Amino acid sequence: MIDESRMPVHVAIIMDGNGRWAKKHGVPRVAGHNAGMEAMKEIVRCSSDLGIKYLTVYAFSTENWKRSQEEVSGIFKLLVKFVKLDLDELDEKNVRVKVFGDYSVIPDAAKKSLDKTLEQTKDNTGLQFNIALNYGGRDEITRAVNHIIEDMKAGKIEGEVTDELISRYLYSGDENGNVPDPDLIIRTSGEERLSNFLLWQGAYSELEFTDLLWPDFTPEAYKALIEDFQHRDRRFGGRKDEPAK
Ligand code: IPE
Ligand code: IPE
Ligand code: MG
Repeated sequence: MIDESRMPVHVAIIMDGNGRWAKKHGVPRVAGHNAGMEAMKEIVRCSSDLGIKYLTVYAFSTENWKRSQEEVSGIFKLLVKFVKLDLDELDEKNVRVKVFGDYSVIPDAAKKSLDKTLEQTKDNTGLQFNIALNYGGRDEITRAVNHIIEDMKAGKIEGEVTDELISRYLYSGDENGNVPDPDLIIRTSGEERLSNFLLWQGAYSELEFTDLLWPDFTPEAYKALIEDFQHRDRRFGGRKDEPAK
């Protein structure tokens, strides 16, 4: 059973395995991404019901542009479908949608739908659902550094570059307080790597892997991983048998 007093505040998910799922079922890769969207919807609902405060999903990486034009445009079309069809439900559930990544470069239709979603849900106070889109951890840190240099030159900020300053300039930085670092990062499909996801924020995240392909991932599987996470001993470099200084 999940211990409701020890819920992760922020869960991040690398939704991997759509292509292999499609292959297994003898359908085009885009059909795998479509099945993946359905799984994502369920997990958003479930996260909201569990009272998780932040959910970040890796939807498209800065490296995924290497894929065929057909697959890339298929993924963005599906995203438009998702935000259009599910916007009202997200809104009703008090979900606030955010994007991590530079989405100015994605196709126009997808950008417009996303803008509408961000605007419509911006004052919601329930689950914050971050979609990592055209996201890469190294790209995020590089952009932050360039932005800091710009603001220093313009006299908007001064002094030393600190850990906190960098955090504030990342996509997870927020004028109303940063998104806390993910407590738990889940990756599906049996791959055990970060693939450039949340490199800065994931410094002390617990990692959970499952062999399930993303379209086969269910709320039950999700809850089982959260339960496993709750048994982890998180030390953050300190010692459990000694109070932190
Ligand atoms: C994850 O599934 C979704 C994206 C990267 C957009 P994949 O498409 O990477 O699926 P596999 O890894 O080929 O099975
Ligand atoms: C990571 O999956 C990106 C997303 C899930 C969006 P990939 O399938 O692109 O990662 P690699 O290539 O296996 O490392
Ligand atoms: Mg993959």
